[in-house]
Amino acid sequence: MASVIQYDKVRKIYNSGDDEVVALQEVSFSVGEGEFVTVVGRSGCGKTTLLKLTAGLLQPSGGAVQVAGAPVRGPLTNVGIVFQAPVLLAWRKAIDNVLLQVEARKLRVENYRKRALELLDLTGLKGFEERYPSELSGGMQQRVSISRALIHDPPLLLMDEPFGALDAITRDEMNLELLRIWHEAKKTVLFITHSIPEAVFLGDRVIVMTPRPGKVSEIVNIDLPRPRTTALRDEPKFISYVRQIRKSLGVR
Ligand SMILES: Nc1ncnc2c1ncn2[C@@H]1O[C@H](COP(=O)(O)OP(=O)(O)O)[C@@H](O)[C@H]1O
Ligand SMILES: [Mg+2]
Repeated sequence: MASVIQYDKVRKIYNSGDDEVVALQEVSFSVGEGEFVTVVGRSGCGKTTLLKLTAGLLQPSGGAVQVAGAPVRGPLTNVGIVFQAPVLLAWRKAIDNVLLQVEARKLRVENYRKRALELLDLTGLKGFEERYPSELSGGMQQRVSISRALIHDPPLLLMDEPFGALDAITRDEMNLELLRIWHEAKKTVLFITHSIPEAVFLGDRVIVMTPRPGKVSEIVNIDLPRPRTTALRDEPKFISYVRQIRKSLGVR
């Protein structure tokens, strides 16, 4: 399997005043084409830092990040990024928030309108295309964000705790929807979360990070059948993966 992302001894130190914060000590792993890789770790272990390094929004202090075989030297354009908060423009309808991505890339909006409608349908927002963000629930807003991240058809999707702010029920539903989209659109996904069950439910592999300074403590292959279903969460194998990762993270 060709690797889409490769981290080689990645190190990131933040300098704030006289203080040095070692956010990532040494991170090495890779993500294969079409793979769904989840990264789990406690708050402050460097997950967002890792995502920003991958997107080219930050540069490493040591080591190297490669995407599609080339070192990341600046902001990547051929990726879709979904952050924890939906960051929609309040004065734009759902469809126009999706098309924002197209405008920002100086592409012809008219060429993308049909695709934007398809994506809103795919993410379960049919009938809500003309609504403003204030008329949508948190889950629906996040679906608009996901549609926006997919509109330019990037082969790689980077997601930073996209469902962290949602209630547990909506979150489980969004997990299923995301897997459906991933399956249909054949993307490579790097998905960051602090939820162990979410990491296991979604991932082909789970990268377990140690607390600060961030390192990879374990990589767990998730040998569970796809398509994943809600019932899987009650399976002994699922529970045993969750237990293994909890132990690895030192959760009491
Ligand atoms: N711009 C910054 N300047 C200084 N320290 C930072 C900066 N961004 C993050 N950090 C620190 O780096 C560590 C990792 O942060 P982050 O990557 O956001 O972790 P996570 O996403 O896992 O919660 C934290 O200790 C955080 O305080
Ligand atoms: Mg974070």
